Amino acid sequence: MRKPLIAANWKMHKTIPEAVDYVKRFVPAVRNAADVDILIAPPFTAISAVAGALRTAQRADIFVAAQDVFYEEKGAYTGEVSTGMIKDAGCSFAIAGHSERRQYFHETDSLVNKKARAAVRAGLGVIICVGETLEERNTGRTFDVVKRQVSEALLEFEEADFGNIVFAYEPVWAIGTGVTATPDQAEEAHVFIRSVIKEIYGGEIAGDVRILYGGSVKPENVDEIMACPDVDGALVGGASLDPESFSRLVMFKKG
Ligand code: PGA
Repeated sequence: MRKPLIAANWKMHKTIPEAVDYVKRFVPAVRNAADVDILIAPPFTAISAVAGALRTAQRADIFVAAQDVFYEEKGAYTGEVSTGMIKDAGCSFAIAGHSERRQYFHETDSLVNKKARAAVRAGLGVIICVGETLEERNTGRTFDVVKRQVSEALLEFEEADFGNIVFAYEPVWAIGTGVTATPDQAEEAHVFIRSVIKEIYGGEIAGDVRILYGGSVKPENVDEIMACPDVDGALVGGASLDPESFSRLVMFKKG
């Protein structure tokens, strides 16, 4: 069985005091959440403080993730942050290939693959983001694009790595726009992603890998999205910034 994972991607939001205050309000709000993994991806500057606040609140089981990570371990790469550094700061996960990285920083499938491999090699979990733009959807290229992104992201992985790999299907047209994919659109894409993984790594791995949906998930639509059989969680931007709203997502109503 795939345990649901509800993940907060704060993007470029929150100072250290704001992040610590969030944790203090969030932890009591999810004390009754059961059978769900929770993850928070703060900006780099707040990772250590969030991990510390979670330890203080005795919720070190809530995963802390970096929103991005570089693939080299050290060296002259001004501005980059390595897997060892994010682990040191308290992360057990990294996100790779978020569409905003692909769009604004020109990250390619091959770069996303390098980052994902570096994360897994370092013993981190990785959330690999894929998804089509509106133009790609409107011109009938959704499945081609998603297939390319998934297969290239998975180059040179081994079966044993899959315990640390999570996918997020995030149609770019649904991110931050208030437009959510319908449950049917989400389910169709998730089934497709699972079939691509099955073609490469076989049915057992494809059946076990968690695939999150991302794109304008909010309290009003989380239950119907989570009711889709192939949706194993959510990667949430805007609605994760408020601890009450994110706690409602974590406490989604099951089936
Ligand atoms: P959103 O962002 O929930 O604000 O649409 C999702 C994401 O980018 O991961």
